Amino acid sequence: MNEREIAAGLIAAADENIDIEVVLAGLETPPDRKLGDIAFPCFKLAKVLKKAPPLIAAQIMEKISENPLPPVIEKVIPAGGYLNFFLDRSAISKAVVDEISELGSAYGRSDEGAGKTVVVEFSSPNIAKPFHIGHLVSTALGHSIARIYDFLGYSTVRVNHLGDWGTQFGKLITAFRLWGDEETIMKDPINELLKIYVRFHEEAEKDPTLEDSARANFRALENGDQDITKLWKLFVDASLKEFNRMYDLLGVSFDSFAGESFYTDKMPEVVDIMREKGILEESEGAMVVRFDDESMPPCIILKSDGTTIYATRDIAAALYRKRHYDFYKNVYVVGTPQTLHFKQVFGTLKKMGFDWADDCTHVGFGYVRFPDKAMSTRHGDVVLLEDVLTEAIAKTKDIITQSPTSKDLDNTDAVAEKVGIGAVLYTFLKNSRERDIIFTWKDILDFEGESGPYVQYAYARGRSVLSKAEEAGIDHASGDAGLLTSDEEYTLVRMLAGFRDAVRDAAERFEPSIVTRYVTDLAQQFNKFYNTCAIMKAEDELRKARLRLTACTAECIKTALWLIGVDVVEKM
Ligand code: ARG
Repeated sequence: MNEREIAAGLIAAADENIDIEVVLAGLETPPDRKLGDIAFPCFKLAKVLKKAPPLIAAQIMEKISENPLPPVIEKVIPAGGYLNFFLDRSAISKAVVDEISELGSAYGRSDEGAGKTVVVEFSSPNIAKPFHIGHLVSTALGHSIARIYDFLGYSTVRVNHLGDWGTQFGKLITAFRLWGDEETIMKDPINELLKIYVRFHEEAEKDPTLEDSARANFRALENGDQDITKLWKLFVDASLKEFNRMYDLLGVSFDSFAGESFYTDKMPEVVDIMREKGILEESEGAMVVRFDDESMPPCIILKSDGTTIYATRDIAAALYRKRHYDFYKNVYVVGTPQTLHFKQVFGTLKKMGFDWADDCTHVGFGYVRFPDKAMSTRHGDVVLLEDVLTEAIAKTKDIITQSPTSKDLDNTDAVAEKVGIGAVLYTFLKNSRERDIIFTWKDILDFEGESGPYVQYAYARGRSVLSKAEEAGIDHASGDAGLLTSDEEYTLVRMLAGFRDAVRDAAERFEPSIVTRYVTDLAQQFNKFYNTCAIMKAEDELRKARLRLTACTAECIKTALWLIGVDVVEKM
């Protein structure tokens, strides 16, 4: 129970007509510490208790005084229509700092998810197409969500549902046979494949027979034609090699790369179940599943030429995941343009009689907007992920080599890589995921604003104080954290105590931005503390206590950044 809940409990116990939830929602933080740490404006109860607020305050106070106060509450003072609670800062600081010192990097962890499996599908780029910025957002989000669930004790399965099947492969094969050659492709696979793919679309506008050839090629692929399958395999392997380079750079890994093609042989069963349930209907030659909600377009299962589509493969994939992993939750980190698709997929699963469809969640996210560049795969003017990352690293390197404090780093390249990549990941996980992301270098690499480098810098600053103390032979382990009672210290303590709630909230809402927000606030408060409270120059006991607080904060920043996929650096 936190202090607010304790205070609300004391108030609610005074009269049976008081609803604790109303009290909790009504608690305020007084602007001035002289008025207490938590205040309750009693007019919020005037209606139910039918009394004037000052009278209510006095009456509740009388009840509270009947018993000894809980240890974290030092005193309660009624003032006008308010009840002001003064916390025992010393007791709270001691409890929090002791706990973090003891748990170290495990602080905030829990085992509440033990025995439950969460499948997190993310990244899922398309073979032979560039890994573009949207896939990077999915990668950043999914990687973080998986880490958050791991941290809460769930067992997680990271799945990369590669887009390695579908009519576009028919087009690519047609294009490759007309204009491609293996040697050129192998040199720069994705760009070369993209070139012929774009050319296909241009030429098909003039010559519609190309589309027929593409359809025939895809059918041949679905039927297992050897030569065509060999070509397809070439595209897959070449693309994967490039994707893996990205994943290595980002420190991301997967437990499964079962992409769309993995489900080709699992589709007949799915179609059979639908037939058995009598939910498959014919519509203009295609087979579809209709929904009771008529505003929802039917889900197409088989096209008129008998080939399966994206949705069918997703249905087979969900069933496979249920059987194979027996998931507690099955999460899809995919952009919001696919919201309807997932509604159709989950709706179809439900109609097939699978109640676990309710455990499937689409975790959507908005677009990335480049104020100066447009993005589209069809037309070839794409912003490639690799360019974004290399540019981030190069720009960071410029900034740090010009900075007076970091120009003498001996590992500039390693630092630039961690800070540059961290800056990009931070930007993707900064705002609630359904909002569009505005990508400007100015904000991403603003060392003073709300940015990855700002938080990483706070960490490095903390570590540098700690190593100075170590060099000076100061052992702060015995420091009495009960001394940490000033506003700056105590606020920092309170924020540290809120870490677990932030992680839990982020998990529940599949919203890493809650952790990003948390760690940014923590870094800001650390800087306030650092700028207001002398650490090394404080007298001995207080210095030790402040060093302990610094160590706890650094630990917590490191863990929180890890949860969003960002590495720390000891110096920058
Ligand atoms: N490959 C798809 C794309 O790039 C995303 C796949 C999403 N996942 C899924 N299970 N449908 O748009």
